[in-house]
Amino acid sequence: MGVINHSGPRWACGIDAEYIDQRTVDWYRENGFVRIKGVLSPEDVEKYYGAALELMEQTASYRKDAVLDQRVNVWRQQTILRELTLNPRVGAIAQRLAGVPLRLWHDQLLVKPASESAATEFHQDQPYWPHGASSSSLTAWIALVDVPVERGCMSFLPGTHSLTDVPRHELEHEQGLFDLAPELRWLPRVTVPLRAGDCTFHHGRTAHYAGPNRTNEQRIAHAVIYIDANTTYTGARHVVTNPLRLTSGQALEGELFPLVADLTA
Ligand code: SIN
Ligand code: NI
Repeated sequence: MGVINHSGPRWACGIDAEYIDQRTVDWYRENGFVRIKGVLSPEDVEKYYGAALELMEQTASYRKDAVLDQRVNVWRQQTILRELTLNPRVGAIAQRLAGVPLRLWHDQLLVKPASESAATEFHQDQPYWPHGASSSSLTAWIALVDVPVERGCMSFLPGTHSLTDVPRHELEHEQGLFDLAPELRWLPRVTVPLRAGDCTFHHGRTAHYAGPNRTNEQRIAHAVIYIDANTTYTGARHVVTNPLRLTSGQALEGELFPLVADLTA
């Protein structure tokens, strides 16, 4: 059988991480997401995949249910995954897309167990975060295994990062995004399968979804979440800030929220 050899629409292009050109940046800013292939080498994928399995054996989940087995801020728990979260290349791509200085907000190891997991329903990330103003926050979602559609890859609603007024919505259906903003149900959805080592970047307000894992291999992704460097804390509760005794209005800064500019190769 012949091989289909085309790069597809812009979101699907084989953009190498070394070449984040202006067209890619423009595309991201218009649509609120982009796929970048080959952010990690096969050797790095193997290393981080092994480290993720080890961490999952050694630590308890922050969240473990039908949707996700999730660990938060693993970079503070394990040296190898620390290297992934603080990867200067991923940070540099994020900063180029955002166009403003960024710092790390937190990371998440996001696992959908084999066969039995459910979809992560459509949501925006930003309403969950206790941030005063962070207009350019974004997430790098790095595949540590091949993530075809059937294993729970992400889908995005292009352009929804321009919606600044959607109230906080829960993932449960009754208060879900489509109940609060019913017109979004009728937008086209762009579904983005990833090979291991590929990455998507999505803006903190871009509505997104991850399908159920119907395969017999667990889906392992590592999300690195960045915020504008000058982001302040609102005082709202969040798993990352709850233990820190911050006061409302205080800058999120210091060694727990390192600047991308300070990450070194
Ligand atoms: C998922 O990995 O299932 C969801 C990721 C996200 O919501 O950013
Ligand atoms: Ni999300």
